[in-house]
Amino acid sequence: MGVSRIGIGLIGFGTVGTGVAAVLQRNADVIERRVGVPVAIMRVADLDIEKDRGVPLPYGVLTTDAASVIRDPSVDIVVELIGGYEPAKQLILSAIQQGKPVVTANKALLAVHGEDIFAAAVRANVDLGFEASVGGGIPIIRTMMEGLAANHFTSIFGIMNGTSNYILTKMTEEEKSFSDTLKDAQQAGYAEADPTFDIEGIDAAHKLAILVSLAYGTPVNVKDVYTEGIRQLAPLDIQFAKEFGFTVKLLGIAKDHGGEIEARVHPTLVPSSSPLAKVGGVYNAIHVVGDMVEDIVLYGKGAGSLPTASAVVSDIIDVARNRLKGIAGRVPPTAFQWTSRRPLRIRPIEEITSMYYLRMMVRDQPGVLSAIAGVLGANGISISSVLQKGREEGQTVPLVIMTHRSSERAIQEAIRHINALWCVSEPAVLLRIEGVEGS
Ligand code: NDP
Ligand code: HSE
Repeated sequence: MGVSRIGIGLIGFGTVGTGVAAVLQRNADVIERRVGVPVAIMRVADLDIEKDRGVPLPYGVLTTDAASVIRDPSVDIVVELIGGYEPAKQLILSAIQQGKPVVTANKALLAVHGEDIFAAAVRANVDLGFEASVGGGIPIIRTMMEGLAANHFTSIFGIMNGTSNYILTKMTEEEKSFSDTLKDAQQAGYAEADPTFDIEGIDAAHKLAILVSLAYGTPVNVKDVYTEGIRQLAPLDIQFAKEFGFTVKLLGIAKDHGGEIEARVHPTLVPSSSPLAKVGGVYNAIHVVGDMVEDIVLYGKGAGSLPTASAVVSDIIDVARNRLKGIAGRVPPTAFQWTSRRPLRIRPIEEITSMYYLRMMVRDQPGVLSAIAGVLGANGISISSVLQKGREEGQTVPLVIMTHRSSERAIQEAIRHINALWCVSEPAVLLRIEGVEGS
């Protein structure tokens, strides 16, 4: 007898979980016509099943026992949306062991424990979907795994965290401090009560690690992804960047160096005329360069209940279609066939090159500029422009220097010497620049 319905078991009925239920209900008709049979929520687990979450479910569907959702014979696809490492990992592995396909949005888990989960899914020949783990509603994962599968990826870079982009947009447009803007983001419901992963760049590093792993067919230890967040950013630097024609964005950046990969997350100056500079608020944009296709940019809502649920449900539809055809594992979860993956070295930050923005607080007196320029020159760093603001004899004033491309090792060594100079009153601020022609 043919399959007459695909049953969904949801674990986690929070922001994204309720979004998934809403999408499956509101768009049931179009989803059924695309899949071939109805897709119905059979079981939903959450810790609190009394709370009204604004999305009605049939009586008896809710439970507090996540394991029972996986065991339920009416559940064909398990959707993990609780987040975090445990018990999410054990629940996913348990579903895979029971031969049930899994859909998850859990980027932290995949970035840190992805290898165990991918290995289990490949061994069991069970589908694993994780479109929502990077870029929220943006279909970047399927684009890289399938649409761009003919390419070598030259580079991948973009805005991969909505919360930090919201904060940076406000700091730029309203000239507010980081802490005031973070409060705004929390009040608007964008930043979590504990926003550490978002503002420290960790969430973007998780996403970049997943993309690098898929793009280059290599396991990635997220600890090898150089990560700097936006907490230390001063409005002063955002304003100076503006004067030089740049906008500050938290970028995830990966570049192929033929056998080695550069992978880093940090606040970055991009030309204010560039498309990335114009990505505001909680939007994400990911720019992929393939050797054959050249430039592809995907832009859209990187977070939020319904946009993220759209990506989760796209995975559900994909898995449901496979199930109806009696197949699984057609597209490996690692994008490359498991046995064709090769571990690649992730280049440490000291080995990269970049153009740099350097801001120092210096005494306003003769000899200062030549002392600093001397240190830069001695380290082989060439200056492209200089700006000093204010004129207060005997006081400290900001001095900004932009450099031509130089090595990170050289600029770090230069900063060590500059910070020790008699005329410099506090540690220099260093920001990297991307997207300048010829840089
Ligand atoms: P929420 O915190 O809103 O929802 C998670 C839900 O899971 C909560 O209701 C929580 O209950 C419940 N839960 C926690 N542990 C268990 C458990 N053991 N058994 C059953 N239920 C449990 O998170 P989100 O919906 O925002 O995020 C879900 C996943 O989606 C995460 O991996 C996140 O990183 C990812 N994601 C989220 C996006 C977003 O915009 N929110 C975007 C892209 C990905 P309680 O609240 O009582 O703890
Ligand atoms: N906290 C994440 C963000 C959610 O702000 O982008 C989407 O992954």
